[in-house]
Amino acid sequence: MKILVTGGAGFIGSNYLNLFVTRYSQHTFINLDKLTYAANLLNLERVSSLPNYLLEEGDIADYERVENIFQRYDPDLVVHFAAESHVDRSILGPAEFMRSNIMGTFCLLEACRKCWTNKENKLFQLVSTDEVYGSLGDKGFFTEKTAYDPSSPYSASKAAADHLARAYFRTYGLPAVITNCSNNYGPYQFPEKLIPLMILNALEGKALPVYGKGANVRDWLYVEDHCEALWTVAERGKQGETYNIGGNNEWKNIDIVHKICEILAVEVGKVPQDFEKLITFVQDRPGHDLRYAIDASKIKRELGWEPKETFESGLRKTILWYLGNQRWVESVKSGEYKNWMDANYGKRLTG
Ligand code: NAD
Ligand code: TYD
Repeated sequence: MKILVTGGAGFIGSNYLNLFVTRYSQHTFINLDKLTYAANLLNLERVSSLPNYLLEEGDIADYERVENIFQRYDPDLVVHFAAESHVDRSILGPAEFMRSNIMGTFCLLEACRKCWTNKENKLFQLVSTDEVYGSLGDKGFFTEKTAYDPSSPYSASKAAADHLARAYFRTYGLPAVITNCSNNYGPYQFPEKLIPLMILNALEGKALPVYGKGANVRDWLYVEDHCEALWTVAERGKQGETYNIGGNNEWKNIDIVHKICEILAVEVGKVPQDFEKLITFVQDRPGHDLRYAIDASKIKRELGWEPKETFESGLRKTILWYLGNQRWVESVKSGEYKNWMDANYGKRLTG
């Protein structure tokens, strides 16, 4: 099978490739990635020289480029990760989100529609987020039937992509499946997201910026569990369906930050207070969703998937990964990263 992976040099895509390129040497994996700030080729060092892995640098919103890839490789499965993925960036500059997330998904769907003359044994798999459902109050869960109600430019652009994929399934019979997953954490995550940002700032003795009161709740899933769920859905999922993927692991942001401080202290021989004193409550995110929580009973019941990693061991593994991968950490702290920290946190931290 030929598998076109979009955005394979980002966080989840590279974990997916690292897991499956070696496990499934009979399949060819083609990684189509624009190599934006969020990509890092160091993420793929383990697989980059393997014969069943190929990198194609390119923009999914460039239709000609996408069609050319389809003509050259005729992929059987498209696993579509590529997106602008960070809510705070979408607030500061939404345009790129509309281009990559909506137009990019549209171009991929169009290429599938035009190039897959025989749709048998073909599948377009859209990797989406639970943020399309909006915000929950203190109770309840997102199910596959929850109405879409996105709050941020990021989640609105992902919702649009989901709607397009569903429309292509209904209108053209395009074999498509959508998964909506909760917050991922693990190795190779760019440190603009909560967990790696807190780890790296703590190690540098910098402020740990908690938005609002830190009371917002997210459901965290170890990235490899997400990747295994995606593989399961590609193998056994039903076309035209949506599957929610989650960790059944809800945490308030402030509690996660304390947990990170605790684990770090043990690992580097300090006391938690050495890091906890860095916690700084800062101006909240506009339109900040209060709570996300996934009901993942459908994928468990119908496909037999459930998460394997516990949060305790997954978070420790993640922290150890950042401690042990200094070269990777240095590679992301380029000028671009510094600009981002100034743009997003400059005013928040100085008031
Ligand atoms: P990421 O930002 O780490 O990586 C995105 C990748 O896509 C990068 O390699 C980037 O270069 C590439 N990319 C961006 N725009 C592109 C374009 N126009 N053409 C080609 N490549 C492009 O993102 P991630 O956290 O790995 O998320 C991957 C996918 O999973 C996204 O679609 C995201 O919405 C979804 N998702 C993420 C999470 C999470 O917690 N990170 C949870 C649920 C769903
Ligand atoms: P994030 O990792 O950006 O993921 P998402 O917004 O997609 O859920 O943020 C996770 C939570 O952490 C979210 O409630 C916002 C909060 N947060 C902070 O409090 N401080 C930060 O510096 C960041 C990046 C996030």
